[in-house]
Amino acid sequence: MQKKIAVLAGDGIGPEVTKQALKVLRAVAKAYDHQFTFQEGLVGAAAIDVTGDPFPKETEKLCLNSDAVLFGAIGHPKYDNDPHAKVRPEQGLLAMRKKLGLFSNVRPVKSYEAISHISPLKEHIVKDVDFVVFRELTGGIYFGEPRGRSENGETAFDTSIYTKAEILRISKQAFEAAKKRRKHVTLVDKANVLATSRLWRETVRECCKDNPDVKLDYMYIDNAAMKLIQNPGFFDVVLTENMFGDILTDAASVITGSLGMLPSASLGDKVKLFEPIHGSYPEVAGMSKANPIGAILSAAMLLNYAFGMTEESNAIKSAVDQSLKEGYVTEDIDSEKHHTTEEVGDKIATLVYMSKKVHA
Ligand code: IPM
Ligand code: MN
Repeated sequence: MQKKIAVLAGDGIGPEVTKQALKVLRAVAKAYDHQFTFQEGLVGAAAIDVTGDPFPKETEKLCLNSDAVLFGAIGHPKYDNDPHAKVRPEQGLLAMRKKLGLFSNVRPVKSYEAISHISPLKEHIVKDVDFVVFRELTGGIYFGEPRGRSENGETAFDTSIYTKAEILRISKQAFEAAKKRRKHVTLVDKANVLATSRLWRETVRECCKDNPDVKLDYMYIDNAAMKLIQNPGFFDVVLTENMFGDILTDAASVITGSLGMLPSASLGDKVKLFEPIHGSYPEVAGMSKANPIGAILSAAMLLNYAFGMTEESNAIKSAVDQSLKEGYVTEDIDSEKHHTTEEVGDKIATLVYMSKKVHA
């Protein structure tokens, strides 16, 4: 197959982890006879420096003209410490989600036997955890208007808004996913307090009627946060709004043992985008310490979700499993015996290539 991939490496550790994901995609292309072309675009602080805009028009066009987007991370400390900055790199991320119509963020959470001992949770709790969070990505308090400050600056406000249509389109995706999994959807909300949450319940209940084979239950976000730590094995598909999903998935990364392990797919009605959930992590940028597995698994999701290449996608996942078993891990996983970002990327790329060539 011939495919065009837009590559937005972004800020912090974005470029170095994306480089490893590209290495693995090149290995897939070589082993499976695909032609992938990669075109780079600017985003985040890197784009502000050059164009003044964290998501320039040119980057938007590049994404819309590609078959998929591989994204690294956005964020730079010089903006974090300046509450008066007029443009912030994160605005680029939100603009990108909105302009590309990426309304659904799929975040799988899985424990890996080879590294389950590094989780701060007890091994029997994290054992066999395998769930996926469907986080709504273009609505809720992240985007609702009005937002801002009162004239005298003494009051600030944000607005959470959801329409039925926004809830329905992601709910359908979550139910579709559940049908191929353990057929269990948990809607996480705060329906005892929020009107938006009550609309979510009402809408999702309707959606459930079309999927009688899927079990639906509801859980308040505070209770879900507790359950996630106490008994994460309970979850199969978690469906939730934008901010709850943001918070829950960072918490969920503790199960795997490192935020660096988690990939994500952002889906919508235009192009699909794939990114690790870890963010820019500027403290270790450029030091070859960053865990590239979140980015590499995002590439695996890209192959599956955007190109329907299940075999190739599974080959990457198996290579990640294998390299973890062989101890090819970065510092976040093993502070004593660890490898560089590059070495882990090389190992996984080689394993992917070999797995196909040996079986061919
Ligand atoms: C994420 C990030 C972003 C979010 C930030 C950087 C705006 O935390 O992708 O989870 O809150 O969505
Ligand atoms: Mn987040």
